[in-house]
Amino acid sequence: MATRPNRNRSSAQHIGSILTATLGGIAQFIWLTLVGIVSVFMPVQKKNVKNEIVLVTGAGSGIGAAMAKRFASLGALVVLWDINSETNNRVCEEIKAEGGRAIAFTCDLSNKEEIYQTAARVKRDAGNVTVLINNAGIITGKKIYELSDEMIEKTFSVNTIAHFWTIKAFVPDMISKNHGHIITIASGAGLFGVPGMVDYCSSKFGAIGTHSSLTLELEANGSTGVHTTVVCPFFIDTGMFDGVRSKVPHLLPILKTDYAVDKIMGAYHSNQSMLLMPRILYLFLVMQSIFPVKASIAAARLFGITTVLDGFKGPRETRKKE
Ligand SMILES: NC(=O)c1ccc[n+]([C@@H]2O[C@H](COP(=O)([O-])OP(=O)(O)OC[C@H]3O[C@@H](n4cnc5c(N)ncnc54)[C@H](O)[C@@H]3O)[C@@H](O)[C@H]2O)c1
Repeated sequence: MATRPNRNRSSAQHIGSILTATLGGIAQFIWLTLVGIVSVFMPVQKKNVKNEIVLVTGAGSGIGAAMAKRFASLGALVVLWDINSETNNRVCEEIKAEGGRAIAFTCDLSNKEEIYQTAARVKRDAGNVTVLINNAGIITGKKIYELSDEMIEKTFSVNTIAHFWTIKAFVPDMISKNHGHIITIASGAGLFGVPGMVDYCSSKFGAIGTHSSLTLELEANGSTGVHTTVVCPFFIDTGMFDGVRSKVPHLLPILKTDYAVDKIMGAYHSNQSMLLMPRILYLFLVMQSIFPVKASIAAARLFGITTVLDGFKGPRETRKKE
């Protein structure tokens, strides 16, 4: 009987500490939401990238080539990886001709051992990577029943699993210096399903999951200087999705490569965690979360998403070789 007041006091203290933690968490949530909203309207303070070593996978064409050129023009040392030596070396020479610093490595991102071996060569020849851009990606554009098992595995190897090997190879050095940035070029197709792209969409959902979990791991680790950005664009005019047309181009335009690169660089400079483009994708994401599935499918039909691959001819580069 004599111990009851103590027990009451300790349970009151326990409830008090839960309340404090909860109120603190809510206050932090509201504060960070406000900071996030205000930062959208604030001018972006650009980072000095002259001491950065930027690795771009899939640097031989499209977004990868454009990102590499942009970082090189700002003074970074860019490390170019691509399975296609010819295009990769050409991008490297173009950067050097413009006065930039670049080094090219041929690497098949569907091959884990090749990734680890090339990563070791990069550390020896260029130094520790501080900005990792997981950009390389492939698309089959076939229905799931038409896909061979090998094609499905390849799509996942390049679009998702390669990210694990590059993260394992380069992010520990970023953590030890508490300095770095991992940019994941995923896709809007990693947020919304698209018919004819089951393999591609699933691999991009996986890439977004990898980004989200890695972000929280870095946060839990206290690695406040290692940032992450995931990029989820609608179609871009690089030739990867040649033949695809938007049914509502005023709302969902096929994006220009330069515009996409401007936005990605903005997200890099401002440490933006998630970039969706065009902006209407943010609205679609909210709608998908709150509306019934059948209503979302009706909206997808209205915006032409259910038939978007009808004109798809295949990646331009692949067709050139055929
Ligand atoms: N173009 C679009 O409409 C679009 C839209 C959303 C997301 N994305 C994503 O953006 C990224 C870049 O796409 P892009 O449009 O520049 O395509 P792209 O085809 O122009 O470039 C992809 C590059 O990856 C390289 N690559 C392919 N397989 C490889 C492998 N096994 N190992 C090493 N390199 C390999 C290719 O050689 C090529 O240089 C991809 O991840 C893509 O999924 C593109």
